[in-house]
Amino acid sequence: MPYYTKMGQLPKHRHTQFRRPDGRLYCEEVFGTEGFVGPTSTLYHIHPPTQVTGWTTLYSCAPEYVETSVMRMRHIKSAGMKPKGDPVTGRVILFGNSDCEMSVCTPAEGMDYHFKNAQGDECIFVHFGAGTVYTMFGTLRFGPKDYIVIPKGTIYRMVFEPLKGADGRPNPLMPYGKFLCIETCNGSHIGPPRRYVSKATSQFLEHSPYCERDLRLPELPLTFDEVKPGGFEVRVKARDCVHSYHYDYHPLDIVGWDGCYYPYIFNIDDFMPITGKLHMPPPIHQTFEAHNFVICSFCPRMLDYHPAAVKVPYNHSNLDSDEVLYYVEGNFGSRKGIEVGSLTAHPQGIPHGPHPGTVEASLDATYTGELAVMCDTFRPLHPTKAALEIDDPNYPASWQGEHFPKLASGQIKLNGVHGVHGPDGKPIDRQHTADTWAP
Ligand SMILES: [Fe+2]
Repeated sequence: MPYYTKMGQLPKHRHTQFRRPDGRLYCEEVFGTEGFVGPTSTLYHIHPPTQVTGWTTLYSCAPEYVETSVMRMRHIKSAGMKPKGDPVTGRVILFGNSDCEMSVCTPAEGMDYHFKNAQGDECIFVHFGAGTVYTMFGTLRFGPKDYIVIPKGTIYRMVFEPLKGADGRPNPLMPYGKFLCIETCNGSHIGPPRRYVSKATSQFLEHSPYCERDLRLPELPLTFDEVKPGGFEVRVKARDCVHSYHYDYHPLDIVGWDGCYYPYIFNIDDFMPITGKLHMPPPIHQTFEAHNFVICSFCPRMLDYHPAAVKVPYNHSNLDSDEVLYYVEGNFGSRKGIEVGSLTAHPQGIPHGPHPGTVEASLDATYTGELAVMCDTFRPLHPTKAALEIDDPNYPASWQGEHFPKLASGQIKLNGVHGVHGPDGKPIDRQHTADTWAP
């Protein structure tokens, strides 16, 4: 995180004696990154965090990628994925590479253990559901459309509230909720785009689409002072395996911490879209970044306001990145056949763009209600077998067909044709010839 904060009890100086009410010392832990020169927090435990037993390897979580040499666009329909596992074991990896892994999770049960991803940062986008994440830095209450950023090494337990259907009974298709998880596996950390943060003060800059006030930091309760010899399991993800460790004390036994390394929440509705007179490129949607990938938020917003603006994105080639979009809600103007929970994947090297008919259909629009999360990676992404099982084989051919309906000869259709006025205040002439339009 870019800025310093603190919570709970702290001694006046770091690395000095700090005593519990019974006179014994609290156990200080420096939670440092990048060899102690990156963001760091200092935590004070009631008990030594080193007193663990067990260290059993439970299962491999190494993704198995398939069709790694196949170049094609994909449409993964995740809406029908059945609930399984808990908020950790239920994650189904759909895409990934050596920089990041993308999974979708529809939990079927709760976690009766704590979890630590010692392999990478996690960015969890909550699509449906609400609940609480209990972390060693305090408690985060989450709801729909929250990004929960959990930095590497954080011990946590994610607890969803049961979801009920319209009839008030538990929803068997989605008993707790659903989330998209993007995690790093290249040792980098997920944070705000560096261009939005002051180099001198780490403060969000004025042109950033969000700022400190939009972030929700951990709150109380912070400290769980419970003793149960060997009775607290913490599962640690490391080396592409999940290992089981046992603690004698509740792993969230911290009485205070301070620093710049902690989990937080940012709700996508608090992203203030940057709009323009003409189409703005995807970087204006960027919300987070890590080494070799970015995460973007496509939010409801006013569309381009030049009277001849084309409101949907132009055809484009991601020459240096693969692009995965997760569709959350709203009508995505440039694509047909996309469902809530769909993921589309467009590999670098193949141009993609609006579906047939969508350009003309968009010209009169002034607003889009689309909501989607995008992850662009700078190295090729690979699907997993689970992704292929729900891949629409017809998607790559969905751009076939007539893109532009014929208009009357010599006419150009301007967007907002009803009552559009030029800079001089006069109505815009609708009879300009194509390609020669000028206000
Ligand atoms: Fe794109």
